Amino acid sequence: QAGNGQSGSAPAGGSTAPAKAQTLTILFGSQTGNAKGVAEQAAAAAQAAGLQVRCVSMGDYKPKELKSETHLLVTSCTQGEGDPPDDAIDFHEFLASKKAPKLADVKYSVLALGDSSYEFFCQTGKDFDERLAKLGATAIEPRVDCDVEYEADASAWIERAVAAMATDMQSGAAQVSVSAAATPTATTSAYSKKHPFTATLETNQKITGRDSGKDIRHFEISLEGSGLTYQPGDSLGIWFKNDEKIVNEIIEKLSLDANAQLKVDEDTVSLKEALTRHYELTLSHPAFVSKFAELTNNAELAKLAEDRAALREYIDGRQLIDIIREHAASLSAEQFVTCLRRLTPRLYSIASSQAEVDEEVHLTIAVVRYEAFGEEHFGGASGFLAERLEEGGKVDVFVEHSHFRLPEDNSPVIMVGPGTGVAPFRAFMQEIDSAERENDTWLFFGNPNFTEDFLYQVEWQGYLKDGTLNKIDLAFSRDQAEKVYVQDRMLEQAQSLWQWLENGAYFYVCGDATRMAKDVHEALITIAQEQGGKSREDAETYMSELRKNKRYQRDVY
Ligand code: 2AM
Repeated sequence: QAGNGQSGSAPAGGSTAPAKAQTLTILFGSQTGNAKGVAEQAAAAAQAAGLQVRCVSMGDYKPKELKSETHLLVTSCTQGEGDPPDDAIDFHEFLASKKAPKLADVKYSVLALGDSSYEFFCQTGKDFDERLAKLGATAIEPRVDCDVEYEADASAWIERAVAAMATDMQSGAAQVSVSAAATPTATTSAYSKKHPFTATLETNQKITGRDSGKDIRHFEISLEGSGLTYQPGDSLGIWFKNDEKIVNEIIEKLSLDANAQLKVDEDTVSLKEALTRHYELTLSHPAFVSKFAELTNNAELAKLAEDRAALREYIDGRQLIDIIREHAASLSAEQFVTCLRRLTPRLYSIASSQAEVDEEVHLTIAVVRYEAFGEEHFGGASGFLAERLEEGGKVDVFVEHSHFRLPEDNSPVIMVGPGTGVAPFRAFMQEIDSAERENDTWLFFGNPNFTEDFLYQVEWQGYLKDGTLNKIDLAFSRDQAEKVYVQDRMLEQAQSLWQWLENGAYFYVCGDATRMAKDVHEALITIAQEQGGKSREDAETYMSELRKNKRYQRDVY
């Protein structure tokens, strides 16, 4: 029974599709790939349920297509202070603009990814939900806000949202079961976040000087035998172990039984093992304080937990161990772990290219180390790699693929990477050099002092000498009375930079999201205004166009 093309909801029975088959469109806004992964899982589930599906990055989606949508799933992460990820910026803005169409015929559901340690938890997903509703669309399933451990909640959302969509799109057709299809699609590598490769740390080298205020390390890790591959721009996930000293101290302060047996996922492990490998002990979290206060009848912490702003200030200055040191108590192992969040791997932008280093992977990491309350404190993963893992020791890793990519052709490349933000650009340069690519290259690098903090100085000089690197501009912020930053160097080079952009250059930024990336963006707008003779609005449109054409890419954190 062929459809007659007049009805958008023709039953999809039999083998002949209706003339105007409905499509489920799945849009994702993704920074590190999680929202994209969830979208792809949802697409696989919907396909298995017999739906016609289209899964597309918001960055590649033409807003005018919205008018013909009927069924929409949206997944998005949130960055920094509630900002959308780069590929979602334009679509996010479009939905709030006057140009956005009425969406009265659209059914939708939103999955928001976030981290509840941040104030603007899941803000971008919340925005999408609110904006779609305001345009008249109907939420077919309520929005789900996921925390860092998102997998289970995301799978449950996929199952419900796809089932609801299937029922709506195929009303009249047989009920479809999607639960079996909601499992993740197989990946090509044998190793993944859930099944990491146990790699060997080969080199741990401090690359900042003795008098530097920073301790930045260059790590080399062997992936030999793993078959793992990565591209310049990808990240390496590190599963780290918590510091045994901290684990022991927590056990002691809370009179816990180190040998108590606990179930973690499919395994039963001792409390000590669970605290070492499976729970977050470094970053403190608002929910920890309220839960811990409740279980230990701590009136002081309970009171603090009622005042959001005070609570945030309290946890911002403290690791978990600091709170426990101030509030020794006694509770059971089972109770204690209910206060904790699961440990999540840390992602680092890879600093090498396999064209050059083959079965190795290199990282550039600033060690988090500071004094507080009379004690030395370390970051979770950076402390593990820098201080507790010997060369020759083992570390569980996986590759997280990214959309931060060199141009496919020989377009010029401008790289802005102050501090450890230079990491992916070392990978880019190795790739361009070893794969004998022809791209012109220009690096902007900054750090406090020339003598102490010029990361990979010898390598850049080598590339300059042999012509692989065409230009380098350096901003050593504290070598003179006035601070000088990478964006100041960009402005000094405005004319040349504009010429590169007009010649088709790709512009890359890596590093600090909250200040640096915003200031660099402003500098680009200024350059487009001054050199391109554009209004502020046209300069912003110019940047949006660059972003759409993948010529403005950011890896910021
Ligand atoms: P500062 O610490 O001396 O202020 C890498 O961390 C480099 O980035 C440092 O030289 C740091 O300078 C600099 N930096 C700090 N804030 C910045 C900003 N808003 N834009 C660009 N660079 C910045």
